[in-house]
Amino acid sequence: EIAGEQVERAPVVTVMGHVDHGKTSLLDYIRKTRVAAGESGGITQHIGAYHVETGHGMVSFLDTPGHAAFTAMRARGAQLTDIVILVVAADDGVMPQTEEAVNHAKSAGVPLVIAVNKIDKEDADPERVKNELAQRDVLPEEWGGDVQFVNVSAKTGEGIDALLDAVLMQAELLELKAIPEAPGRGVVVESRLDKGRGPVATLLVQNGTLKQGDIVLAGLQYGRVRAMLDENGKPVKTAGPSIPVEILGLDGTPGAGDEFTVVSNEKKAREVALFRQGKYREIKLQRQQQ
Ligand code: GTP
Ligand code: NA
Ligand code: MG
Repeated sequence: EIAGEQVERAPVVTVMGHVDHGKTSLLDYIRKTRVAAGESGGITQHIGAYHVETGHGMVSFLDTPGHAAFTAMRARGAQLTDIVILVVAADDGVMPQTEEAVNHAKSAGVPLVIAVNKIDKEDADPERVKNELAQRDVLPEEWGGDVQFVNVSAKTGEGIDALLDAVLMQAELLELKAIPEAPGRGVVVESRLDKGRGPVATLLVQNGTLKQGDIVLAGLQYGRVRAMLDENGKPVKTAGPSIPVEILGLDGTPGAGDEFTVVSNEKKAREVALFRQGKYREIKLQRQQQ
């Protein structure tokens, strides 16, 4: 029913794995080496999501704070991420949170790409990681399964190109599509109240295009998009499918995992938001009284 042509969109990727297996290091390495030169002097701003140009295609990443949104969305059966990169330290092997991530991805129906990390370490044992995951039905391609395993080091950068290629290969199989001409809609990754700027929300556009000046309904909140910033804090006027942006102009802070939509009528947006806020208060009150 939405007019416009379906086009390929970039994959949205979440990095998961056991504590200290190198999730942040891996993301930092990718961000440092892939943030377009001249765009910024490095990581100027914390944002829970960002996109990178890999040379073979674009990839959007949800950083660790995005996990709250991931969990909230999963609880509703909705999907925030297209692919999970599961980081497993080669010197440590499969650990409880590794298994948890495998179960999360499986129940959400999200394909895994395995980053066998810390391959630079002397006691790295990538074969052991393969064995341990194979025992949990995560079968490597070279053993007849359909999961790509890539040996990487977030310290030296070894294998990271191959990891991004594996992600893009997986994305191709998924045939991810969106309609850029449609009104923007997607998910709230995180939000906060900024002293000077008021409510700031990080949104991931899943379909359509979000534009400065749009009226947005996001969870219990609404507002006109006063300004949009990319992950480097640079002002942008539009954000298309799979692109994360920070927006200013909402009347409050929506929850991680809340859906957002662009609506054409500001009065209607306010009514819906107020209705939702009223309902929310009612439910909260009922819970307190129980
Ligand atoms: P949490 O967010 O606390 O769960 O940890 P994490 O998975 O984000 O791991 P993090 O990136 O914080 O890395 C944990 C430790 O492992 C740090 O001391 C890193 O420097 C180290 N580390 C990460 N990747 C590598 C790697 O490829 N090689 C080596 N030698 N060390 C690594
Ligand atoms: Na850590
Ligand atoms: Mg971390």
